[in-house]
Amino acid sequence: MKSRKALVAGNWKMNADIVSNEHLFTSLRSGLERTSMAHVEIVVCPPFPYLGQAIAWLSDTGVAVGAQNVSASPNGALTGEVSAAMIADLGCAWVIVGHSERRTLCGESDADVAAKVAAALGQGLNVIACVGESLAEREQGHTEAVLTRQVDAFAAAIAGPGGERLVVAYEPVWAIGTGRSASSEMAQDTHRFIRARLARHGAEAADKARILYGGSVKPSNASSLFSMPDIDGGLIGGASLVADDFLNICQAAAAA
Ligand code: PGA
Repeated sequence: MKSRKALVAGNWKMNADIVSNEHLFTSLRSGLERTSMAHVEIVVCPPFPYLGQAIAWLSDTGVAVGAQNVSASPNGALTGEVSAAMIADLGCAWVIVGHSERRTLCGESDADVAAKVAAALGQGLNVIACVGESLAEREQGHTEAVLTRQVDAFAAAIAGPGGERLVVAYEPVWAIGTGRSASSEMAQDTHRFIRARLARHGAEAADKARILYGGSVKPSNASSLFSMPDIDGGLIGGASLVADDFLNICQAAAAA
């Protein structure tokens, strides 16, 4: 058993509606009643409009709820934005920051991600900060340089107030939604590299920090990935929308 408690977070992305959410929550509840998940922390991250529904349906299950994005600003004339205080006020405990889809499609920079991490930690939220290289970057041998830039942008936060609430998710862009996961060994090497970057800000904090793997995690590859010493759980996209798959992945993390 690892010293860090496993964490599995479901990133629903922009997939949800009230009725299908109810089915998913019902299946998750009954799955959780059948199996002990004492050794894993579970989070689901639906789109903003459904956060309240998720909290109402999951409040007594031990499953926490998170948002998929947050504004770096506390308030103001920012149409369409949602602050960390609002997310916390609603009863969410978590937020995902810097997902590669937001970096590429919405132009989020490393500095934006760092500002969002700071805003969310400042409001008492747990943060999953995402990093990961593209296929071209890996093929050109730039993986470590890219991760250094991305991780260093926010890494100092692990040694600051609330730093124990910061989780890093390594998500190679080429593995997201493609069915092509990184091998467990490749992911482990990269996780070890990320932990070493964090350790520059404090060895003990880095040792305690959870680093999740994300990118085509499925029931069939979850156990192998989670058995690696520096892989502390997963950020799950597609498979988090299928209750049995998500529960199987949570169980694999609980057993790792
Ligand atoms: P995937 O997505 O599991 O569908 O590959 C992971 C993610 O983008 O967080």
